[in-house]
Amino acid sequence: MIKKPLVQPVVKWVGGKRQLLPNLIPLFPEGISSYCEPFFGGGAVLFNLQPDQAHINDINEDLMNMYTVIRDNVEELIALLSQYRNEVDFFYAIRDWDRDKEHYDKLDNIFKASRLIYLNKTCYNGLFRVNNAGEFNTPYGYYKNPNIVNAPVLRAVHEYLNSAKVTITSVDYSEILSSVTPSTFVYLDPPYDPVSDTASFTGYSKTGFNRDEQIRLREQCDELDRKGVKFVLSNSATPFIFELYSKYKISRVQAKRIVNSVASKRGDIEEVIIRNYE
Ligand SMILES: C[S@@+](CC[C@H](N)C(=O)[O-])C[C@H]1O[C@@H](n2cnc3c(N)ncnc32)[C@H](O)[C@@H]1O
Repeated sequence: MIKKPLVQPVVKWVGGKRQLLPNLIPLFPEGISSYCEPFFGGGAVLFNLQPDQAHINDINEDLMNMYTVIRDNVEELIALLSQYRNEVDFFYAIRDWDRDKEHYDKLDNIFKASRLIYLNKTCYNGLFRVNNAGEFNTPYGYYKNPNIVNAPVLRAVHEYLNSAKVTITSVDYSEILSSVTPSTFVYLDPPYDPVSDTASFTGYSKTGFNRDEQIRLREQCDELDRKGVKFVLSNSATPFIFELYSKYKISRVQAKRIVNSVASKRGDIEEVIIRNYE
């Protein structure tokens, strides 16, 4: 399949891998035909690779619903987004849809997808953050001209998701990994081990991702390795991660920090790219 440049992330996502692609992709095996990404997020890596066959997954149900809607109902989605306004009252009205859980659960999936994209483009820093009750709580961003409806990119992603064989799920990553076979390449981009206590960010989902979770993930990687499945894993360059993956190949890379909302703290941070092959 010929790669299409407009196939790009449709939402900004914490840990987005766009800037890291030049370091990451050269380390991948050549000629990947079957690809698996269990911590999908914004999808910068898949959209850059555009493989013929892929399984994408993220525990965030709203996020994976959005990709399903882009695949199946892109024109309805674009039509809805075109009506949304970048105004503070409008923002809070849409943000508050999830305050009544019963009502939110019954909402049409196209409405839910439009809400996620709209909030991502207009909220402060594009940050997906929910409180303990699962309510989206990032405030309004006051941006002048957010690109609420990027129709060319939405249509290009729609075409890719339809022309390739892409399976979309929203479950714990371990469920996906247990059925992967050696003909599939796996890229793992989990929530990172925090560099310091203040850098800790657990807003991805209601569950969070602590060190026990990092250990569980390493055990899953060992299982992949035993089965002969090639994988690459990204994480932060902390002593804990170096220790945990000491038996694998670890490369250090510099990455731009986009998580921090304080501009002065957005310097370079060190990340690692871990792999189980030469
Ligand atoms: C670092 S982000 C991925 C960033 C992504 N690669 C990108 O380029 O935008 C980590 C993702 O893991 C997801 N996640 C957290 N716990 C998970 C779990 N147990 N199973 C699957 N996904 C999980 C989060 O919802 C989040 O989207």
